[in-house]
Amino acid sequence: MKTGWFKKKVDELSKLKGYKKPDKYSNVIKLDSNENYAVKREFTLDLINQTQESLDIREYPLGGTERLVEALSVYTKIPPEMIGVGNGSDQIIDLILTNFASTETKILTSEPTFGFFEERCKLYSIPTIRIPFTNRMTLDIEKFILNAKKAKILYLDSPNNPTGFQFTKNELEQLIREFEGLVIIDEAYVEFADYSVLDLTKKVDNLIVLRTLSKSFGLAGLRIGYFIANKKVTDVFNRIIQYPYPLNTIAIESGILALQKSKYFLDVANQIKKERLLIIEKLRAMKVFEVYDSQANFVLFVARGSSQRIYKALIEQGILVKNLGKIGNHEGCLRVTVGSEEMNSKFLLAIRDLLT
Ligand SMILES: Cc1ncc(COP(=O)(O)O)c(C=O)c1O
Repeated sequence: MKTGWFKKKVDELSKLKGYKKPDKYSNVIKLDSNENYAVKREFTLDLINQTQESLDIREYPLGGTERLVEALSVYTKIPPEMIGVGNGSDQIIDLILTNFASTETKILTSEPTFGFFEERCKLYSIPTIRIPFTNRMTLDIEKFILNAKKAKILYLDSPNNPTGFQFTKNELEQLIREFEGLVIIDEAYVEFADYSVLDLTKKVDNLIVLRTLSKSFGLAGLRIGYFIANKKVTDVFNRIIQYPYPLNTIAIESGILALQKSKYFLDVANQIKKERLLIIEKLRAMKVFEVYDSQANFVLFVARGSSQRIYKALIEQGILVKNLGKIGNHEGCLRVTVGSEEMNSKFLLAIRDLLT
């Protein structure tokens, strides 16, 4: 390469790890990416088929995201002026970081937190203060409060990926109210949890709550994320920061239909919560793993020295879970997504067989 500065920049970037996408296996039961297979495939295909009458993909989706926002407003009971959408919440995170964060803005977060967020901070050289999980896979609110003044941005996934941990509502609300900079609460898994802090967006000006249709709505492939914030922040994001057409027509129209049928998805989320409890109980009953409570659609368990063997043996049986390695002091962490009833029982049977 001829240009010095360009070569230097490319060399510098090539040293980063980047977000590691999940390994691709064919014909496996995919319980590694917190997708939602309890949502029936036919139901999602019907959504797309039903949009066809009104689709004209020769046109830009003018007015499309505005109609999606209206549907989100009905679903969340939040005024449309406080809602914006993005190409997955990944894209919203990226736009927030590139426009509001810099090498000067320390971000207070947990260790670990959502992997894409961690990698994006590295890409933009944004410094982070990371509060580690305790041995019991919980976070200490006092440590966040102690560090609050040292940071300009707070990012928390509530519930956390990959642990499933969520602060009590009182604790999180106190932290949000005390934090003086920008607060980003990522509620990607909120429909599986006991509470949301959405209503605080009406009172707290510096709060952005992130949401997605990838998890409880099972529409990860459509890439529909959204956020809720005060009117001024939302206006700036939608009018100035966001691309003119961040979502494609098919995603917009299917997303609107999905939101109109939200009862179906919320029923599925309740079913997942029941299955989550079953998985936790059965894994605990095996008496070999440390199994943690979860407020999300996945369960974290520690298999210590056996994790590699279990991970590989499960793949041989056609079941893929996430191999997380070390979290805090715990070696051998595995995360299993709660899937359909059938998938979950196959997973539990396979893991029981491995132990006998
Ligand atoms: C905490 C958290 N936030 C955001 C996302 C990404 O969501 P989306 O599919 O809307 O980009 C994920 C996906 O795994 C996640 O775990």
